[in-house]
Amino acid sequence: MDWIEKSRLWIGAEATIEAAHHPVALDLLVRAGLRRGLHVLDIGCGSGGTLMMVADQVGSDGAVSGIDIAPPMTARAANRAKSRPQVAVMTGDAQTHPFNPASHDVAISLFGVMFFADPVPPSPIF
Ligand SMILES: C[S@@+](CC[C@H](N)C(=O)[O-])C[C@H]1O[C@@H](n2cnc3c(N)ncnc32)[C@H](O)[C@@H]1O
Repeated sequence: MDWIEKSRLWIGAEATIEAAHHPVALDLLVRAGLRRGLHVLDIGCGSGGTLMMVADQVGSDGAVSGIDIAPPMTARAANRAKSRPQVAVMTGDAQTHPFNPASHDVAISLFGVMFFADPVPPSPIF
């Protein structure tokens, strides 16, 4: 998959795609049990729509880290989240990135992990 090319198309249609996915995003965040103060990992965060939703739910006491493999996506996400200091964005392959499990209370992914070579996690995530 050419994620850089895909990200250009995705960012160009960002508002339309996010509006279409909004009900699913809301359900995901409810199921994740988000509350103020949690530290959340958003896998395949794309251009940052869910990062900002999560940031507003966890508040300034919490944190949300987004990871995405496509640099145009992470650049766009970081730019959109500039006013939310609890958001951090990194570029990388979440399949191989050396996450510290102690750094996050919850991991979410809105249409992200389904692209992994092995999308089934070893333990339940949302
Ligand atoms: C369908 S988009 C969803 C983006 C975002 N979660 C949203 O709903 O707006 C899938 C995203 O997963 C990212 N992605 C795919 N494989 C990845 C991987 N191995 N590690 C990190 N991100 C990945 C893509 O770059 C893309 O931004």
